[in-house]
Amino acid sequence: AQASRYEAESAVCDGTVDSNHSGFSGTGFCNPPNQSGTGVQFTVNAASAGTVALGFKYANGSSTSRPASLSVNGTVVQTNVPFESNAAWSNWTVKNVTVSLKAGANTIRLAGTTSAGLANIDLLDV
Ligand code: GCU
Repeated sequence: AQASRYEAESAVCDGTVDSNHSGFSGTGFCNPPNQSGTGVQFTVNAASAGTVALGFKYANGSSTSRPASLSVNGTVVQTNVPFESNAAWSNWTVKNVTVSLKAGANTIRLAGTTSAGLANIDLLDV
């Protein structure tokens, strides 16, 4: 099936929607707070139940990874998704993870697990 794109500026962003670093898609990206437990939540629609690849486009201009927990429909499905440094806040890298979705609407939440919080998140491709 054709990929569906969900822009972070149209999702629930716990921080600010910023546009001060170039290269993002749409009108901005989500800049979550630098604290554990916060992040971004997308609602994605699946035509049928099954396993899909999620592609999060992110920037991490800090020097260290910003790991996240990944929840689907309120359940943590991965406790440690690494969002490695990609050296500049204007560099955008895709992080792929595989999850199972139900038919219909699904909530997909990324939350930082360290005091640095999450990387900047541009979008989710499903
Ligand atoms: C910088 C950068 C932000 C980023 C922040 C961070 O301030 O400009 O876009 O979110 O670092 O460390 O999270």
